[in-house]
Amino acid sequence: MNKGKGVGLEMSETAKRKRKRSTTSVKEEKTSSAASPCTYHTFSDPAHVVLLRSQLLNWYDKEKRELPWRTVAETEPDVNIRTYAVWVSEIMLQQTQVATVRDYYNRWMKRWPTVQDLADATLEEVNQMWAGLGYYSRGKRLHEGALKVVTELRGQMPQTVDSLLKQLPGVGRYTAAAVGSIALGQVTGAVDGNVIRVLCRLRAIGADSTSAAVTEALWGLANTLVDPERPGDFNQAMMELGARVCTPKGPLCSQCPVQPHCHAFRKVHVKQEQNSKKLLGKLSRKASALPDIEDCMSSETCQLCPSEPWVDELGVQNFPSKPAKKPPRVERTLTCVVARPGQQGEEEYLLRQRPNKGLLAGLWEFPGLLVEGENSEVQQKRALCAELRTILGTHLTESLFQYVGEVVHIFSHIHQTYVVHSVCLKDSDTQTQTGNAQWLTRSALQEAAVSTGVKKILKLYDSMENKEEQTSKDGKKQKNTRIKNDQTAQKSKKIKLSGAKSSRQLSLSSFFKTVKEESSS
Ligand code: ADE
Repeated sequence: MNKGKGVGLEMSETAKRKRKRSTTSVKEEKTSSAASPCTYHTFSDPAHVVLLRSQLLNWYDKEKRELPWRTVAETEPDVNIRTYAVWVSEIMLQQTQVATVRDYYNRWMKRWPTVQDLADATLEEVNQMWAGLGYYSRGKRLHEGALKVVTELRGQMPQTVDSLLKQLPGVGRYTAAAVGSIALGQVTGAVDGNVIRVLCRLRAIGADSTSAAVTEALWGLANTLVDPERPGDFNQAMMELGARVCTPKGPLCSQCPVQPHCHAFRKVHVKQEQNSKKLLGKLSRKASALPDIEDCMSSETCQLCPSEPWVDELGVQNFPSKPAKKPPRVERTLTCVVARPGQQGEEEYLLRQRPNKGLLAGLWEFPGLLVEGENSEVQQKRALCAELRTILGTHLTESLFQYVGEVVHIFSHIHQTYVVHSVCLKDSDTQTQTGNAQWLTRSALQEAAVSTGVKKILKLYDSMENKEEQTSKDGKKQKNTRIKNDQTAQKSKKIKLSGAKSSRQLSLSSFFKTVKEESSS
């Protein structure tokens, strides 16, 4: 779901770099020069700043994408609605691509056009709306924030960068600056993942971009560059440039409106010239080792200069640099689609709600358990039976379990494999024994707050179901006891999760539309 993602999430870029970077930087041993970065890494000439602003904004005015939150920011006269609308967009855009956010945003704003409307919703409804977008705690925080605004701030959204930061849960330095500049015209830079890349290239900042020294330098640069007349547009132009031109891979330097200011671009050309001179024997070894006169003059001690050697093939992609990512934790979860004939003639499925904190907080999932150690398949199945017994109060014999297949789902930090089984119960009266489990019809399940992992499991289960129906039609196999899922019959029935006041009906195709990234809270 990389949009040139939010802060700290350009992992694929780093992972694929030819150069392996160590987690501890050599730079850490050097003496500090971060307090005042040398002029090479700053914009010290005000005329250059003025020129860069106008070049970037002219480009943005011609090239910007029409996005719903931009339209609200430009046209909504009510400052409270404007701030709320931009806040929602910025939270959704954290770690999620613009293309994915668009539809979610439109649906959200249609349903909850004001902060008061959001405060009136239930968390279950918010989770349903968020289903598939990933990083589920974001929706929860928006809801908490709306409740706070309504109950503690008399319905008034905070109106400064500082108060946004202090009052709203889930709002950090970047989000406060983005909302403050875009919705409220506050003059502040805003540094997200795209902006980090643009600034690191513009000023050849090649030290670990997650380090404190680089972070402070980047915020300093952003605050210097931001256009005081159009801070919101300027910040969005920087993000737009990072998302569409100054991309992690294959940047389009020839189309860049601020290319004349770009040290990375200049460096690539100086290196190329040096290389061709070397090839022609016109450059002595000594001369090629000398810094270019436009280089950082204190690169040996500078906390912003790269600590890794230059790689010709990377070109401007030598910037930015991040420490190597930790490999994801590998997990296997045994999970079971338990179905029963529903009382209304519609097949029902057993779902369990996850705890309110942690990964996928509050979402509904098929019951299952983490596979730990080297348990044999038989032991695993036995454990699954025991788990289901605690939920249903009935013992299920292992022979009822049918293997369905495996589903792989990648979270930001976990490589999860769901080993899927199914059980078809004949008894439509099987009750759940625990408060956090429910039987849901297919239509209720489609509306429920479930993660992309659950959707993938259901898709796999359905494909097996279809295969079985096919073979039974061909007369090669006995028909399964499972009830046929008649979607047209389901349309008129709406059985909802308890606590949910209303619900969004998803089409089957959008329900199964996979979103590239889904992650932890
Ligand atoms: N990413 C974060 N905020 C954005 C915005 N306002 N427009 C486009 N991409 C963004």
